[in-house]
Amino acid sequence: MAFERTVRIAPSILSVDFARLGEQVEEAEAAGAGCIHIDVMDGQFVPQITFGPVVVEAIRDRVDIPLEIHVMTLQPERHIEHLSEAGANRIIVHAEACPHAHRVVQQIKDAGLEAGLAINPATPLSATEEVLADVDQLLVMTVNPGYGGQSFIDSMLGKIGRARKMIDEYAPDVVLEVDGGVKADNAKAAADAGATLLVAGSAVFNHAHSVADSMSALFRAIASE
Ligand code: DX5
Ligand code: ZN
Repeated sequence: MAFERTVRIAPSILSVDFARLGEQVEEAEAAGAGCIHIDVMDGQFVPQITFGPVVVEAIRDRVDIPLEIHVMTLQPERHIEHLSEAGANRIIVHAEACPHAHRVVQQIKDAGLEAGLAINPATPLSATEEVLADVDQLLVMTVNPGYGGQSFIDSMLGKIGRARKMIDEYAPDVVLEVDGGVKADNAKAAADAGATLLVAGSAVFNHAHSVADSMSALFRAIASE
């Protein structure tokens, strides 16, 4: 049951005020973030181009919590070494971008990092089944990746529930993460379905509320009855 699991929040820097990046990740850490989620995009696997190892390095200097890198690029294996040197703790690659996902997962682990595997909304869970026991984290996307501020796709709640069952049965140590459209009004539903790590970009970094207040609202929502 959901109340037996600890649910953590992974603020995504995609929505930060980039002129204040250092301060904002420090605020997120102080507000209880479990890790910082860093979205690397190449303009090919997804439409946008974002940032790479130099930004990871800058954040590494400002916080002590783990840095997880969500790699939305073609040939993600080309970036493992640089991201590792920059201070990444966990690298998450997309099953859709990895015809040889088993090999890429091993490359991440050989670099001394935790490995995550992500799947887009249209990708079946079965795409992860044969490597599930080799990864540290499974990331179920709840939006089509590429942009912050999109709406949570409600039909993904069923998929999160099925992912929870698959993990409990075959690889109980794997962390189940969801990413995309997580807000205070749906965080509890995602946690109840079985997610234990919730990525939140625009729900944490926005103009309406401070980072601390936004994080509290998410924690309160998750803890509510
Ligand atoms: C989307 C990214 C997300 C994004 C989430 O492709 O992978 O991590 O930052 O942003 P929100 O929480 O605003 O949907
Ligand atoms: Zn992400």
